[in-house]
This record gives sequence, structure tokens and C-alpha cells, in this order.
Amino acid sequence: MNKEHIKLSATDANLWFGSKQVLKNVNVAFPQNQITALIGPSGCGKSTLLRCFNRMHDLLADARIEGKYLLDDRDLYKGGFSATEVRRRIGMVFQQANPFPKSIEENVNYGLKINNIPKGERRQIIETALKESYLWDEVKDDLQKPATRLSGGQQQRLCIARTVALRPEVILMDEPCSALDPLSTSKIEELILTLKKDYTIVIVTHNMQQAQRIADQTVFMYLGEIIEAGDTDNVFNNPAKDLTSNYVKGHFG
Ligand SMILES: Nc1ncnc2c1ncn2[C@@H]1O[C@H](COP(=O)(O)OP(=O)(O)O)[C@@H](O)[C@H]1O
Ligand SMILES: [Mg+2]
Repeated sequence: MNKEHIKLSATDANLWFGSKQVLKNVNVAFPQNQITALIGPSGCGKSTLLRCFNRMHDLLADARIEGKYLLDDRDLYKGGFSATEVRRRIGMVFQQANPFPKSIEENVNYGLKINNIPKGERRQIIETALKESYLWDEVKDDLQKPATRLSGGQQQRLCIARTVALRPEVILMDEPCSALDPLSTSKIEELILTLKKDYTIVIVTHNMQQAQRIADQTVFMYLGEIIEAGDTDNVFNNPAKDLTSNYVKGHFG
């Protein structure tokens, strides 16, 4: 592993839904300006782990969470961090592109409004975010078009634009390409690689080729535990554990 600054981490993370333990003694660290792939079979807790970094279980009466979750050296659950601030600094992109049923422009503008970005600055921020998300050229002639009329791949890039407009420090992506065709997927992968210079990125993926194409490090989870984490090349080509080897070779999943 590398000695870069650890941007985001979880220490001794445990999580229960009712009596069912879904995260078990998870220790994980995401280095700054790197892409980390989170892999593992369905139901192993990948989405749950991402949601812990976004305070998404706060309102779930059924969820009990333990452990320490740090952004730099600040505890996400303490020290006056509000869920809103956490979500501005740690953006999230979901599997199903989920634009609001509003115009392209309003989709990006919405987060600027709720975060009190001055009105006069918003137009430029929207344009920059759409450019950074490789969507500008395709939409610049009609920003008032309903976002729901964009293709699936364009909608996902719009959701990324909405996230980067707020200048987060970390972007969590939960299977962002699983609903997309190969061409849209390769556009998003290219985009993720360019975003890496400005952001720390964690991406959940079931696509082993995708993880190897874009991720610096890879974390393998199984039944709520981290089995192995390290440089992507090692995890795929020289894994320390048989379980990892069997998973990355596609023997189960
Ligand atoms: N809100 C919830 N309430 C109860 N159980 C849940 C909830 N969310 C997820 N789970 C359970 O937690 C486990 C991990 O789910 P999840 O994190 O979505 O896995 P993954 O993203 O790796 O497929 C699964 O057994 C799932 O059924
Ligand atoms: Mg999931």
C-alpha cells in the first residue's frame, strides 16, 4: 500500500440491522486522490459501508452503528458535523441515475441553492460542473430540457455533475455503471479517471475488468468483513487469500 494521506477511513466499524450484523470489525482506509474499488458478492455490505460515510443510517431506527469514521482527522459523527455538511463534503452517486424530474440546469442548481451558494455564481458553477462531467457539449444548447429525457448514461453524468458542483472532497459511487451500456460505461470510467486529480473516489463495482481498469487499490468484502485490501494489481493477480482468489476468478459471486 502507499503512504499517501488517508482522506477517509473507518476503524472497528460494526453495524446491525435489528439483530443481524451486517458490518463486522471493518477497518478500511481510502488514500487521497486515489480510486478505491470495493468488490464482493451481493449482500456482503458494500452499500451499507458506503452509507456509513454519508450518515445515511441516521434516521433508520432499526440500524445500530459502532466505530470511528474519519474525514481527514474529523469524526463524521461528532464535533458538530451536520449530516448536510457531511453530504456536501462526501458526495454520493447511486446505481440508478436519479435526476430530479426537473430541467438539466435545475438538477445542478438545486444543491447550490440548498447550500446557499450566491445566485450570481451559480450559472458559472453549473457550466463548469457540466464540463467536468463531460456532459456540457451534449446539453449546452438546451439546459431547460427535462433531465428525464436524457439517456441513462447522460443522466448518470448529470448526477455526477450535481455532485461535483458542490466541490466535495470525496465521491462515493455505488455501482454507477451497472445500468449502463458499454459505451456509456467507458465514458463514465474515463470521467472517473479525470476526477481523480481533484477527488478521492470509492467505487463499488461487480465488474472485475472495471476495477482493474480504474482502481489504484481494491478492497474485497465477504459477509460483512474485509477479507483483503491492497494494490489492485496484487488483489487480482497475487491475492493473499483463497477466498479472494476464488472471487476475482469468478468462481462465485
Ligand atoms: N435498511 C436495511 N434494513 C435491513 N437490512 C438491510 C438494510 N439494508 C441492507 N440490509 C441487509 O444488509 C446486508 C448488506 O446489504 P448491502 O450493504 O446492500 O450489500 P451489498 O451492497 O454488498 O450488496 C444484506 O443482507 C441486506 O439485506
Ligand atoms: Mg449494494
